[in-house]
Amino acid sequence: MEKQKLQQLLADMSLKEKVDQMLQLSGAFYLGDENQVLTGPARDMGLQKEDLEMAGSILGAAGAKTLMRLQDDYMKKQPHHIPMLFMMDVIHGMKTIFPMPLAQGATFHPELSKECAHAAAKEASVMGLHVTFSPMVDLVRDARWGRVMESTGEDPYLNSCFAKAMVEGFQGENPGEKGRVASCVKHFAGYGGAQAGRDYNTVELSEHTFREFYLPAYQAGIDAGAELVMTSFNTINGIPASTNKWLMRDVLRGEMGFDGVLISDFSAILETVAHRSSADECEAAVKALEAGVDIDMMTSVYSANLCRLVEEGKVQESLIDEAVGRILELKNKLGLFENPYKDADPEKENEVILCEEHRALARKTAAESFVLLKNDGILPLDLNKKIAFVGPYTENQEIKSSWSFTGDAKDCVTVKSAAREVFHPERTSYHNGCPVIGRDVELIGFTGTEEHKISEKELRIMEEEALTLAKEADLVVMPLGEHYLQSGEASSRAMLDIPEIQMELFRKVCRVNPNVVVVLFSGRPLDLREISAKARAILEVWFPGTEGGHAIVDVLTGKSNPSGKLPMSFPYCVGQVPVHYNEYSTGRPNLPGMKEKFRSKYLDIPNAPLYPFGYGLSYTDFEISPVRLDQNQMDQEGTITARVTVKNIGNCSGTEVVQLYLRDNYSSVVRPVKELKGFKRVTLLPGEEKEAVFVISEEMLRFYREDGSYGSEKGTFRVMIGNSSTVTDGAEFELV
Ligand code: BGC
Repeated sequence: MEKQKLQQLLADMSLKEKVDQMLQLSGAFYLGDENQVLTGPARDMGLQKEDLEMAGSILGAAGAKTLMRLQDDYMKKQPHHIPMLFMMDVIHGMKTIFPMPLAQGATFHPELSKECAHAAAKEASVMGLHVTFSPMVDLVRDARWGRVMESTGEDPYLNSCFAKAMVEGFQGENPGEKGRVASCVKHFAGYGGAQAGRDYNTVELSEHTFREFYLPAYQAGIDAGAELVMTSFNTINGIPASTNKWLMRDVLRGEMGFDGVLISDFSAILETVAHRSSADECEAAVKALEAGVDIDMMTSVYSANLCRLVEEGKVQESLIDEAVGRILELKNKLGLFENPYKDADPEKENEVILCEEHRALARKTAAESFVLLKNDGILPLDLNKKIAFVGPYTENQEIKSSWSFTGDAKDCVTVKSAAREVFHPERTSYHNGCPVIGRDVELIGFTGTEEHKISEKELRIMEEEALTLAKEADLVVMPLGEHYLQSGEASSRAMLDIPEIQMELFRKVCRVNPNVVVVLFSGRPLDLREISAKARAILEVWFPGTEGGHAIVDVLTGKSNPSGKLPMSFPYCVGQVPVHYNEYSTGRPNLPGMKEKFRSKYLDIPNAPLYPFGYGLSYTDFEISPVRLDQNQMDQEGTITARVTVKNIGNCSGTEVVQLYLRDNYSSVVRPVKELKGFKRVTLLPGEEKEAVFVISEEMLRFYREDGSYGSEKGTFRVMIGNSSTVTDGAEFELV
């Protein structure tokens, strides 16, 4: 629709019609018995029949036929036949589930995530969706927070690369194109900073840290053209994000240049009352509108109050026009005025979802996301050996992780089913050994899972059978890990351990067979001290998604050589958390040779995490040469080229992720000890060598300076290039 017509449409709409556009309700309200909804959840939310009929968007419903029907019903009733928007959390796949986002971060391969997002968009759009609430780009440092699985990790640069790739993958050039959906960057802002890793808890960040570490990934998503941004539940500078005018008007729209639709998180506007920062829902509505929040997700705060507030002269109608203008513009960009179904196509659904191409992409991405944390040479497996697979993820299809409710666990390939395609039937045995969790683990809201129902006797038999197999084998592969419900939203944990029932099995297996390879499923970094001390190899596979089993077998057998690197530090123990490589320099660093006692350190544990950011092994070895700079001085407009030679000195081909870290040697504000500024995946045959080249520009040296401005400062810098964040060797240059 032409811009002018759109403006005319807005001008013709009644106030009520406009406010309806600002309401988003759950698809569940439309798919069941209307009377039950009206006398139950809708009534509890203070919603009337006409609110339900006229809400401008729906979240969480999918399926071409269903959404086409909802669209027809809506457009018939809507006075101007405005189409409805269908949104959903398509986080790491729609039906084909790709590895969870933190695992995707471990690939250090954003282009691959772009392809995954595109595949997810194809599946989502053919099922009738228009918008995905993804990517989640919140920076995370605290492994206790359950939502770390949804982020790509602890580094602003890495997160920015993935934010851009994912937005581009979902939207393409234009979200209105076939097979694309509009992307919503979330949660603005700083949601990952929840104190003590407890979900929905206070976020307390200095503005400096907020800007320096947390904002870049949102900015990258916005620069990539994300059509929507979602507010976060937390406060920033003491004001809840959803009613924070400074954050939304000045920072997001003003400084960061976002001009798309701003949607609240689920009931986040209303929750400002519980924060005791809005007196009541009327005040919450006024503040959120003034902050520029366009859509209220799942409450009646806007729909029940805004018309009256305008009539009473308490809010300006122009603010409502502004919000609705943006919503209509999004509908227009998606082409809904011309084709309200967009790509919904019941015939094509089966062709696109879970197609071979998407499964192959899921398999490849999963294999690239695995991080080989330890290997004494036992991997890749020697298929001539007698091998026992023992552990609760041997035959478990729940390997999609949280935020994949659109997919179906029954489509997931288990370790066992994939292994049976490759391993010798007579030399290989399989046993779950124990459930994922014992009765000691409570998954609040999920007590009484299948695991909880197994009797003591059954548990004993399981264990005995598994130990017999472990004893008879030459080596044991143990697929272990967290329950998938132990991470995700509202799934914070104070302990970063593997459920005790599995640790007991692990210990007993180690006693009967010392040749143990752990295949670790987890939604977050865990405390791996014991596993690390006893297992001969550890392969972190996160929650790998639909093709998990195949990808695991590909890597265990050496068909794929692991190249994943940790996107988040694995702490030594929970007491170290939050732990991240890019910490600020302290006045008393714990450096060798310095006086022991009065240094920044623990008495009982090391400062270093057990496995650092950027770390990950391969089945081959790489040698990285010292850094060579083409010059050691650079002016503001100039560049410096840094080079290293990477050589494969092992026996098989492999990929090394070569990482560039910079350190500002001296500056007006305290800076991180080092910062990732580039990375390159270098694939080499045995004996082959290649150069990895990085161009350093002044832009990469910028930061928030003492006076709050953003820019660089003259002086010397250290360039370090290596294969993890622990690299220290490097070369120096001067910015003049
Ligand atoms: C989550 C969001 C999500 C929304 C809609 C909220 O609880 O915080 O990330 O997009 O629900 O499902």
